[in-house]
Amino acid sequence: MPPWTLLGVLSLLLVVPDALAVKSHDFKTCSQAGFCRRGRALSARAAEAKSAWNSPYSLDPASIIIASNKAVFTAGVKSALYPEINFGLELRVHDDGVVRVRMDEINGLRKRYDEAASWALISEPQISEDITWTAGKKDIKAKYGNNEVVVAFEPLKISLLRGGKEQVVLNGQGLLHMEHFRTKAVEETKTEEAEPKPEEGAEDAAEQVVMKVPEVNPRAWFEGDTEDDWWEERFSTWTDSKPKGPESLSIDISFPSHGTIYGIPQHATRLALPTTAGDSPTFTDPYRLYNTDVFEYLASSPMSLYGSIPILHAHSADSTVGIFHAVGSETWIDVAHPTDKSTTTHWISESGILDLFLMPGPTPADVFAQYSALTGTPVLPPHWSLGYHQCRWNYISSDDVRTVQKRFDEEDMPVDVFWLDIEYSEDHKYFMWNEKNFPDPVDMTNDVAALGRKMVVIVDPHLKRTSTYPAFQEASDRQVLVKPPSGEGEYEGWCWSGSSSWIDFFNPNSWDWWKAKFKTTALKEGWSWTSSTTDIHIWNDMNEPSVFNGPEISMPRDNIHHGGWEHRDIHNINGMLFSNLTSQAVQERTDPPTRPFVLTRSFFAGSQRFGAMWTGDNLGTWEHMAVGIQMVLANGIAGLSFAGSDVGGFFGNPEPEMLVRWYQVGIFNPFLRAHAHIDTKRREPFLLEQPYKGIVKDLLRLRYTMLPVWYTAFRETSVTGVPVLRPHYVMFPKDPKGFDLDDQYFIGNSGLLVKPITTKGTTKTTVYLAEDEVYYDYFTHHAYRGTAKGKEIDYTAELHQVPLFVRGGSIVPTRERPRRASSLMHRDPFTLRVALAKAGAARGELYLDDGVSYAHEKGQFVWRAFEAATAKKTVRVASTDLGAARPGAAVDGIALASYDAGNKFAESIADVRVEKMVVVGLSGKPASVKVDGGAELVWEFTPGVAAGGKGEGVAGVLTIKDPKVRIVEDWAIIIQL
Ligand code: GLC
Repeated sequence: MPPWTLLGVLSLLLVVPDALAVKSHDFKTCSQAGFCRRGRALSARAAEAKSAWNSPYSLDPASIIIASNKAVFTAGVKSALYPEINFGLELRVHDDGVVRVRMDEINGLRKRYDEAASWALISEPQISEDITWTAGKKDIKAKYGNNEVVVAFEPLKISLLRGGKEQVVLNGQGLLHMEHFRTKAVEETKTEEAEPKPEEGAEDAAEQVVMKVPEVNPRAWFEGDTEDDWWEERFSTWTDSKPKGPESLSIDISFPSHGTIYGIPQHATRLALPTTAGDSPTFTDPYRLYNTDVFEYLASSPMSLYGSIPILHAHSADSTVGIFHAVGSETWIDVAHPTDKSTTTHWISESGILDLFLMPGPTPADVFAQYSALTGTPVLPPHWSLGYHQCRWNYISSDDVRTVQKRFDEEDMPVDVFWLDIEYSEDHKYFMWNEKNFPDPVDMTNDVAALGRKMVVIVDPHLKRTSTYPAFQEASDRQVLVKPPSGEGEYEGWCWSGSSSWIDFFNPNSWDWWKAKFKTTALKEGWSWTSSTTDIHIWNDMNEPSVFNGPEISMPRDNIHHGGWEHRDIHNINGMLFSNLTSQAVQERTDPPTRPFVLTRSFFAGSQRFGAMWTGDNLGTWEHMAVGIQMVLANGIAGLSFAGSDVGGFFGNPEPEMLVRWYQVGIFNPFLRAHAHIDTKRREPFLLEQPYKGIVKDLLRLRYTMLPVWYTAFRETSVTGVPVLRPHYVMFPKDPKGFDLDDQYFIGNSGLLVKPITTKGTTKTTVYLAEDEVYYDYFTHHAYRGTAKGKEIDYTAELHQVPLFVRGGSIVPTRERPRRASSLMHRDPFTLRVALAKAGAARGELYLDDGVSYAHEKGQFVWRAFEAATAKKTVRVASTDLGAARPGAAVDGIALASYDAGNKFAESIADVRVEKMVVVGLSGKPASVKVDGGAELVWEFTPGVAAGGKGEGVAGVLTIKDPKVRIVEDWAIIIQL
């Protein structure tokens, strides 16, 4: 938020969304960023030159060195423009087929930042042992499996092929340009000898200033003819000194066989990325990755937002490939489709080395696995964090918190977490309670925890510069604060807390110190948060970082971090380090450690390891409601599944209809939190009039019944990296009709398909069914039938209804007893919804553990498979133990770390029953229903009512009231038809 909001925050009139507009002039367009302008000018020159354009970069074959392990090769690269400058190229092939391409300047005047990967990657990847490079006259090739990497020497071009077909091509358009470090052309003072000597006594008349500029610039065809913002750059009232001079990096990355691309969050736009270049592009500016606090952001724009993950998927019906560029500086990406079936992208970064990972797929699931192997999978979050989070700016006192909790309980609305925004703190000195309003923070938290709930409290990264604030004073004493451009002293900027400084988390000396601040017990030395409890978890906001009086509401790029790096080099990584260290801090408060919950606004590749994100300050508009879904899907593509948008919209006062629809979106977001700006009216769901209040209560309860589905999906993504929310191209990669779909999606592999309504006054929608399979309405059991070519069905959802379907062939475990909080559900019985496929089979999974500790990593979990099979006159529904069935083995390619057969956790829920089984899609009334080897069960059958052809209409439903089986045991239920 910009400063005027800070100053006027309490006096602002209620915000009316229609009057809102982004302050575009606060943020650069490509043409206002020197390096982006240079990059785009390069591509414009190439486009104009057409086939006459040739990249000046070439590889020197004589310099090739193939490492003894054969999976790595290095070579020298030159630009014909600057023969005296040396670049080094390195290629390595990982054991999963990923190709890493690195290029750096060798022995340059200065060093380029090359540490982005060290923050993003979980470990040094394993090199393949199976590669052989074959060098020819024009290129060098490595073949492995069905894949091949070809490096052409002159001009330099790197291609990844599969089955002989090009998948990814680097520098195919000749836009590679690594601006080398140079010396600034000094302004020289010299005496012109040709001029007559000045007469005695004349004053310095012969001295004049000349610039050393060559008369004809032989590089102009490629680099342009001006030193465009090489050494200094202005934006608005800001001057960015650039002591290192130009060092940008441009590269084109093409996908000749893929017509759709996804990823590079965070942008408020469609999941399938619209074009920014080529003929009639949707956006005129490239997608920007530069973490920024954009006030009142647009619902459709390539502008940068709070986080950046430089990964994208390129997709076609034949295959999916991915690329990840480990670069931490500002990056702009142009996207064009030369044809329907191909894509070109142009990446322009301000600084850093080229460090590209080419992920060969060939399926979306393969790309997820390849990216997870690099940057990690999300850690399994605490179970309670999948419940409902109630936030606003601000609950103003501990009594306010208690009253809100009481009201939820009076209305029997489930909620797990109450949040405190910045006003809990004294003068916005985080950790320090405003004692007038929060005199009893520990008692308050205990009152919340007594009902099985948690609190989340905000801790922002700006530290108020006052010696009475221990967090600031200690950081200052330790000299772990970010430095101004001079490299001396402490950078000072303006944020919520007024004059502030920022911890430099790139400095390892800050790490243990920061973690210790969260200890709830006193330290031997230094301050710690003794007025908190381990039931308090943390919200990290403003970590782009947001600086109200800084350029583009952030930190000057020439600020200095640990190691002497400029802020420009690490800007996009900065926010991740804050949530990384905070999540470690929260985890380590207890011994043994417990799972932390940390919400972050800013993020980078790897942030999935540290917690959840949300989409920032959205507006209370229908457009923002809709784009929130697309943004959460895009985040999932980039590994960060634990995502959500503020339910209700941060700004504005949503009318009841909008709020209800927003809860329908929210309960199908992985992270479910209602939040509101300080100037908005209170809008906790219990304040709604009927029927809205009842509708929202039912929606929250629906979320809670489905927690087993969510938790099982999170467990899966924590192992495979396949996102919790799955868009159509992930589920049906071969169906082009689904490539552009981003308003309906599946939850994990549960078979649940949802399409929230996000337009005002609308009850009618269409839902796309991609396959010749039956889909059942979750609530009415109405069966819809898709076709092999894909089919749209019409659907009506009144305000209290949300389009939710179960894909035939799924078994969905739920817990249907309404509870006040998820912690009260751990011993609740289960309902199994068996949705038979057209061919009569079904499958589902359930994962359970204690939800808070790391005991699951030592085999303390329950992981069940449910399977239904139909044979002639029998349907058999069986439960088996996936953990015990294959200890130490791999299931779906997932290695089971360990499975403890004795399993204390399983024992602790040994008597938890399946209390109900609903079998949907039975063709006729059964003759008998028994547990295998047991007596007849109590059941009832509602016959189907056909409507339309091919099995459409309400399905036949068998309800078994008490199947007399337990969730942790193996069993089978036999339905005789
Ligand atoms: C930022 C956050 C918002 C929060 C506010 C006050 O605008 O995005 O969620 O309420 O700061 O902390």
